[in-house]
Amino acid sequence: MKWETVAEKILEKERCAVRRNLGKIPYTAEKGVFDDKTSDISWWTNGFWAGLNWQLYGAFGGETFRSAAEAVEQELDRSLMDAQGMDHDSGFKWLLTAGANFALTDSGASKNRLLLAANDLAGRFNPAGNFIRAWNDKGDGETAGWAIIDCMMNLPLLYRASELTNDPRYRLIAMRHADTARAAFLRADGSVCHIVCFDPVTGARLNSLGGQGYGHGSAWTRGQAWAVYGFTLSYLHTKKEDYLAAAEKAATYFISHIPESGLIPADFCQPPSPAYEDSSAAAIASCGFLELSRATGNEVYRAAAKRLLFALTEKRCNFGGDSDPLLENCSVAYRGPNGIPLIYADYFYTEAILKLIGKETFLW
Ligand code: GLY
Repeated sequence: MKWETVAEKILEKERCAVRRNLGKIPYTAEKGVFDDKTSDISWWTNGFWAGLNWQLYGAFGGETFRSAAEAVEQELDRSLMDAQGMDHDSGFKWLLTAGANFALTDSGASKNRLLLAANDLAGRFNPAGNFIRAWNDKGDGETAGWAIIDCMMNLPLLYRASELTNDPRYRLIAMRHADTARAAFLRADGSVCHIVCFDPVTGARLNSLGGQGYGHGSAWTRGQAWAVYGFTLSYLHTKKEDYLAAAEKAATYFISHIPESGLIPADFCQPPSPAYEDSSAAAIASCGFLELSRATGNEVYRAAAKRLLFALTEKRCNFGGDSDPLLENCSVAYRGPNGIPLIYADYFYTEAILKLIGKETFLW
């Protein structure tokens, strides 16, 4: 496959989509039309549309991409001012908005937002169990000791804050969390838990939960992809070999479970029917494999990324300029919604294709 041609197709499609969706913050789409999360400003995916536009701006230029991305960043200030809206997903929200803006334009206002978000994320650290708390209190205290594998992707916000402030505390918190994730989430076979519950006072590991996967002990594919990419990113920022080993273990599990079709199910342990898929897991894992291949020099990971991206490009991409979303057949969770587009799938697919042609802006 000629990946430059795929990148051109993405560019042409997104040129149409961005003009049609100015002022929106898309999450999913119905009948080819993006929805809008502007009124749900703290939603965890609200950075991805901006990130997609920044990636295209960084690779090809285009003021419409830049202004669409900047508009989202400004809207997100309402989330920064909402203590109940702030949670572990600050990396997803501000690395792809403020972080990207700072990387590409040196904006001082964006650097300020990045550091405010990092301070909030650092404040979620629980020193008893050495983990960053996931979701906020729903009034019953149940989630005070919950941590999730997805949070590995938010740690780069802390690594970046240490680089920007010459203050090691952010990095130390991130590494404590990554160490906990390695010990408490990664199973002997290389699969990962989605949710691990700790006693928030003693820090003792209590149990794990199936979360968005098929069930307890199963292997939710997006969680597996977060682990592959997240541990790789912690390695890239710290050079701690344990993280590289964890990423390789999670990657080996993922690769050995890729079906013949190259399309990724919602959970590697799900029954054959219904055959729920998650294109977002494939796109995220592709990014992780490409970085892992670069870090280790092992071409097996690059080949796995290309296999997943080939399947997505051939079977799950809609390059038509009259439809907003790019990737089809994502699952929010095993139990649904399934078979829908999700903006983060479009983001990571684009990031992966740009990595392949050497035009990506590294935002993590
Ligand atoms: N971070 C939430 C998810 O992956 O669905």
